[in-house]
Amino acid sequence: MTEFKRNRKTRISDNLRELFQEQHLHVTDLIYPMFISEEVDAPQEIKSMPGTYQIPLNSLPQEIEEIQSLGIKAVLLFGIPKVKDAEGNQAYAKDGIVQRAIRQIKQLAPDLIVIADTCLCEYTDHGHCGHINHEGFLVNDASVELSVRTAVSQAEAGADIIAPSSCLDGVAGEIRQALDAAGYTYTSVMGYSIKFASAFYGPFRDAADSAPKMGNRKTYQIPTSNQREALRELNSDIEEGVDMVIVKPAMAFMDMIYQTRQMTNLPVVVYNVSGEYSMIEAAASNGWISKEQIIIELMLSFKRAGADLIITYHAKEIAKLIQ
Ligand code: PBG
Repeated sequence: MTEFKRNRKTRISDNLRELFQEQHLHVTDLIYPMFISEEVDAPQEIKSMPGTYQIPLNSLPQEIEEIQSLGIKAVLLFGIPKVKDAEGNQAYAKDGIVQRAIRQIKQLAPDLIVIADTCLCEYTDHGHCGHINHEGFLVNDASVELSVRTAVSQAEAGADIIAPSSCLDGVAGEIRQALDAAGYTYTSVMGYSIKFASAFYGPFRDAADSAPKMGNRKTYQIPTSNQREALRELNSDIEEGVDMVIVKPAMAFMDMIYQTRQMTNLPVVVYNVSGEYSMIEAAASNGWISKEQIIIELMLSFKRAGADLIITYHAKEIAKLIQ
């Protein structure tokens, strides 16, 4: 007679393992981020993110067709404008790069869910997420006003979901009110509710040409050491009426994904950010890890921690793997 538990019973064959698998990955779990650029006239690979491209508007038809054929249901759009200025005018211009991309995508694929990242840092010449004063400090309320203008113009272009990523106080609520006032009552707000001041965004800032020219984002993004402060930010966004919440980055912040899941019944979205993607690409290209296994393992881990949806640059590859 054995006195210990034989926990291996449920894993001794493929069928048993499949039967008792707790988490499953579906293509509908994935959101694919895209960089639409006015600066390129053909897809251009981002150096620090192999396999990810800045694309011009005229590449959208092929891109969207591929995304749809893979079964991906949602994209997250970032824009890289030709002209940047202190107030980020191209972020809220009627014919701004993202506004044009949204209209084109809605023509090509009316059912594809378009999420617009709402931020100014790709559009300002100083690289901060709004209006800065002469000391380089991001002025809150004036910057919120610019984000609101951007959000409404993205909704007007046809975005289904607005995702304010600037981490300004009050930005989610002000956007909600402005959308309602403009008649976009069914346009959702996906809050970047927990967004840390993370070094994992490094490659993105190459991709979107959005690195701050001076200083950093530490006066608006959350210190990476702070769990309770992150939960305060989450609560503010929920009070301001967001429809879904983002936790970002993902890999090093699984505790936050787990806690967010415990604290809200809103959909939880995790952002598997650029640095996480690039580390995997680099290790895989050296033959040090098995990329396919690692990315599936990671996605399942996000789901185990409590994610409903995952924003990932690996979305297309994952879709192919699980098809
Ligand atoms: C814009 C924004 C950033 C990311 C998404 N939206 C960069 C930043 O805050 O500096 C990062 C995404 C990634 O690293 O993949 N504010």
